[in-house]
Amino acid sequence: MEGDVRLPGDKSISHRALILGSLANGWSRIRGLSDGADVQSTAACMRALGVEIEKTSLLGVGLDGLSAADAPLDCGNSGTTMRLLAGLLAAQNFVSELRGDESLTRRPMDRVVAPLREMGANAEWPPLRVGGRVPLRGIEHRQQVASAQVKSAVLIAGLFANGTTTVIEPVTTRNHTELMLNAMGADVRIEGTQVEVKKAGRLEPLDLEVPGDVSGASFWLVAGGLVPKSRIRIGGTGVNPTRTAFVDVLKACGFTIAATQERVIAGEPVADLEVRTSPELRPLQVTGAMAAEMIDELLVLAVAATQLPGESVISGALELHLKESDRIAAMVDGLAAMGADITAMDDGWTIRGPSRLEGTRVQSRGDHRVAMALAVAGLLADGTTEIEEAECVGISYPGFFDQLESLWRASGG
Ligand code: S3P
Repeated sequence: MEGDVRLPGDKSISHRALILGSLANGWSRIRGLSDGADVQSTAACMRALGVEIEKTSLLGVGLDGLSAADAPLDCGNSGTTMRLLAGLLAAQNFVSELRGDESLTRRPMDRVVAPLREMGANAEWPPLRVGGRVPLRGIEHRQQVASAQVKSAVLIAGLFANGTTTVIEPVTTRNHTELMLNAMGADVRIEGTQVEVKKAGRLEPLDLEVPGDVSGASFWLVAGGLVPKSRIRIGGTGVNPTRTAFVDVLKACGFTIAATQERVIAGEPVADLEVRTSPELRPLQVTGAMAAEMIDELLVLAVAATQLPGESVISGALELHLKESDRIAAMVDGLAAMGADITAMDDGWTIRGPSRLEGTRVQSRGDHRVAMALAVAGLLADGTTEIEEAECVGISYPGFFDQLESLWRASGG
């Protein structure tokens, strides 16, 4: 497959730009926001809280300017929306209720409720209801499970809390909240795996170009490395080091991935990536704390492992059970049905390769990353792969199948 792909705006950065920009004083300019359904859920919630949002700009209402929504806030399928807004809304003097679709309703929110309560907030779950008891107080929150969403929720609540709020992570997760708050003039300090924020007086508006979503790029990087005669260019990809650990794993397996035009846009590193078919490959190993640094890319790494010679192990990823679907089970079902040699462990998979995959009908379970990972498996398989509920890719990557088709067509597929 040869050609260029265009990524959607980074989902994590887009959520944060909408939420934090809403708290600034005045108009923020935000170009390249993700057009995925998850980010639209965040935009709809912020509008319901009184923020004016246009295509490339929004009018921040200041730290004290949000108003209560007249109905429960609908977070759709988006865990990031629900958890980050839990932090923001726990610090308001009105009560908010946050709801989600069937998948989100099943996901654990106690991890965000517990630290917010420790800050003095009113927070209950299920259903998730927060706010109405202020002011909050700063805490030191030592995380048991690495989670950028929980870290961000506590830091956002910390903007409103007396004193200092500290989060200590078991391993550094994506740091977009910290970088953005810093760019907005908040008092944030990062030291290793510890992040501190002080109560904020005012936040400056953003002028931001959202980089391409590197988690979306992961599907093209694996496809390009494995499909014969490939060369795929992915311009303007966000390459924040808290997001690219999976690229290092692919390179260690022998993938030919190059980054050029490295630049920094609004505090976030960006590069053009190019992947070519890799001539010689080795199995991959992801263990322990490494898994948290590439939690969203583990599914497509599992697909890659089916084509690597020898035994690959992906472990340390218990959290995968608690994502949009049970991703450990979803990938075993899908890949085994296609003929892969894959065994589920409690916290990951063991995969022996290379296997000849056969196209068949597989289930995405309505999970966008499962659907895209299985689509990559479909590219590597003989025959036709049918993915049920494939439209769920619109959660994070609405143009995914169009891009796939145009790459495939351009390559005479
Ligand atoms: C995200 C954090 C991760 C990730 C999710 C986006 C974020 O979730 O899986 O897709 O934007 O903060 P956890 O915090 O649950 O690990």
